[in-house]
Amino acid sequence: MRHIRLGVNIDHVATVRNARGVTYPDPVRAAEIAIAAGADGITAHLREDRRHIRDADIRALKDRIIKPLNFEMAATDEMLAIALATKPHGVCLVPEKRTEVTTEGGLDVVGGQAHLAPFIARLADAGIRVSLFIDPDLAQLDMARVLGAPVVELHTGAYAEHLDDTDQFDRLALAAAHTRALGLECHAGHGLTVANVAPIAGLSEVVEINIGHFLIGEAIMVGLAQAVRDMKDEIARGARGAA
Ligand code: PXP
Repeated sequence: MRHIRLGVNIDHVATVRNARGVTYPDPVRAAEIAIAAGADGITAHLREDRRHIRDADIRALKDRIIKPLNFEMAATDEMLAIALATKPHGVCLVPEKRTEVTTEGGLDVVGGQAHLAPFIARLADAGIRVSLFIDPDLAQLDMARVLGAPVVELHTGAYAEHLDDTDQFDRLALAAAHTRALGLECHAGHGLTVANVAPIAGLSEVVEINIGHFLIGEAIMVGLAQAVRDMKDEIARGARGAA
C-alpha cells in the first residue's frame, strides 16, 4: 500500500512552554514521542519573532531526533544563515508576516522569483532539500519548477476552512496532478485534522502531509502518541481510497 509520510509540527509545544517562560513542555521530547508513535519526520518553524520555536530548539532537534527535520523558515538572510549552520534534512520556505496568527497564504513564487532564487540555490548547494509552501495555483507551481525547487507543499488551509466548497478540493486535486506532471514532489499541509485529512491522503500524488496544531491540541485529550497513531490510521485509510 502507498505510504504517505506524516510530518509532525511541534511548534505549539513550544507555544505552551513559552506561555510560562519555563523549560517544559520540551518540543524535543514531543518530537521523540511523535517519532516513537510513527511520525516520519518533524517540522518546526523558527519565526522571526521566536514566538514558539527558538534557535536552541532547532539545534537540539537536529542533534537528537532520528527522523528528518523539516525546517520551516521565511526567506531572510538571518534564517538562511541558521539553516546553513544547522543543515536540516529539508527546508520549507514559507511567507511570514509578524501580525499573522499562522502562515496565512502560500508564497508568492511568481512575484518573489528574484528574491527567492538565491535562497533556493544556496540551500540546494548545501545539500538541503528545498520545498516551497504554495497555494494550489498552477502558475505558482510552474514558477517553482523554473526556480529548481524539487518539492512543493500545497497549502490546504482554504480547503480545511471551507469543507463544503468542493472547488477548494478540486483546486488541490488539479494542483497535485500538475505538481507531478512538472516532476516535483508533492506535500500538503495546514489546517488538517483527523476529520478532513482522508481526501488529501487520497490524492495519489501526495507523498507527505505536515500537521501541527490539531495534533498538539489532540495530545491534550488523548496524549501525543495516540494522536499521532490515530492520524496515521486516518491517513492510511484515505490513501486506500476510503475518504
Ligand atoms: N505546513 C506549513 C508549511 C506550515 O506553515 C504549517 C503551519 O506552521 C503547517 C504545515 C501545519 O499547519 P497546522 O498547524 O495547521 O497543522
